[in-house]
Amino acid sequence: MSESVFGTIGGEQGVRALVDRFYDLMALDERFAGIRAMHPVNLDSSRDKLFWFLCGWLGGPDHYQSRFGHPRLRARHLPFPIGSSERDQWLLCMAEAMRDRGIEGALFDRLLEAFHGTADWMRNRPG
Ligand code: HEM
Repeated sequence: MSESVFGTIGGEQGVRALVDRFYDLMALDERFAGIRAMHPVNLDSSRDKLFWFLCGWLGGPDHYQSRFGHPRLRARHLPFPIGSSERDQWLLCMAEAMRDRGIEGALFDRLLEAFHGTADWMRNRPG
């Protein structure tokens, strides 16, 4: 992502608000119960890690890499069984979080496509 995407969605504050909405929805909405159940009871560290990661992924400061080194995202997701259903739950949850944060139009489409590519690559079981 170019640096402008990070700026357009409001820099660190915007990314934090998006991540918070994403995990609030995951916890509240039954449609996301399948992926919620894979996460720890307390979502604080999940929120922090996704926030740190997305800052860099969206073109801002690379907080995740400076703490943990290379993300190796696919390897880090191998303990969790991820098929198309889990991928689609994650993407719908993120799409709704983006809408709730007022991300729309071409930027919404571009981000959803990029999230789709990453989420699809995370699948590690058929179906
Ligand atoms: C495809 C569906 C996905 C599922 C079911 C899923 C699920 C999970 C779970 C259960 C964790 C562990 C949470 C924790 O340790 O607190 C996790 C960690 C993480 N996920 Fe995902 N995830 C998915 C897709 C994605 C995508 C698309 C991204 C990035 C765009 C992402 C980024 C991360 C990051 C950065 C972590 C923290 C890794 C670490 O340092 O341990 N995930 N994910």
